[in-house]
Amino acid sequence: HGRVTEARKRVLLAKPRGYCAGVDRAVQTVEEALKLYGAPVYVRKQIVHNKHVVNTLEASGAIFVEENYEVPEGSTVVFSAHGVAPEVHEQARERNLKAIDATCPLVTKVHHEAKRFAAEDYDILLIGHEGHEEVVGTAGEAPRHIQLVDGPDSVDNIVIRDPSKVVWLSQTTLSVDETMETVARLKTRLPLLQSPPSDDICYATSNRQHVIKEIAPECDVVIVVGSTNSSNSVRLVEVALGAGARAGHLVDYASEIQDEWLEGATTVGVSSGASVPDELVMEVLGHLATRGFGEVTEFTTAEERLTFSLPQELRRDMKKAA
Ligand code: F3S
Repeated sequence: HGRVTEARKRVLLAKPRGYCAGVDRAVQTVEEALKLYGAPVYVRKQIVHNKHVVNTLEASGAIFVEENYEVPEGSTVVFSAHGVAPEVHEQARERNLKAIDATCPLVTKVHHEAKRFAAEDYDILLIGHEGHEEVVGTAGEAPRHIQLVDGPDSVDNIVIRDPSKVVWLSQTTLSVDETMETVARLKTRLPLLQSPPSDDICYATSNRQHVIKEIAPECDVVIVVGSTNSSNSVRLVEVALGAGARAGHLVDYASEIQDEWLEGATTVGVSSGASVPDELVMEVLGHLATRGFGEVTEFTTAEERLTFSLPQELRRDMKKAA
């Protein structure tokens, strides 16, 4: 086609990518609970928003349910990494369930902020995606004080009692840039709006967005491994496109990659959401290698060393059993 030499095909692999500390802990919680109590172990909602993880745990004896009433009385139930409203704990007590709470400690931190500001009678603007489990859980801590702000365009709908006593909080897995835009819009209406005491968007979300932004301008196409209901994975595709990637796709598995996505591409960016096991990324790299993209350069913008210990109620039982 008039091209004398073909440009060298390569993959830019983002790091950090994949599992965050909260997901790692939540998945391990279900695995350890299965070992300790034996199957079945009930899990309320998807433990993390990843198809592969859920299918794998299901195959080892986890039963996923939507609500506590589906769990037989007296059984063990694990609450997902996204957090739950206080009423979910109450329901579990009423059904005499043994609840193990795998809520990510960084989500719990936002719950504490919500409770504290509600106790001081603040209006709380929770920036997040309507209907997302994390938002439902956080809002449940203080339903009378919290209003949801779903992106910059919903700023006009809020109603504030005292403009000198209002704070914003957020879901942990939002787009950093879009959230800042929403906050800027809120501040034009509410100059005295207070910010959360520390970042609510978690380290894992911002690190994954930061590195994808760095590599996106060089990429003809970015492939993000993650499930469609995973907020932080979906954001990664959006951020890549916003930062100059010419195309972006979200896949659960390597087999979903279509050859036409790679037509004419020389640089393919690869990353994965915080709920994605790295074996799925390795399968994507394997697939790309068969299409001529065998040269992989890892591009690192941060090292992550954070880990969380397993939920206390589980650790206690593990110690007893040892
Ligand atoms: Fe927690 Fe952030 Fe992961 S809130 S579950 S560390 S994406």
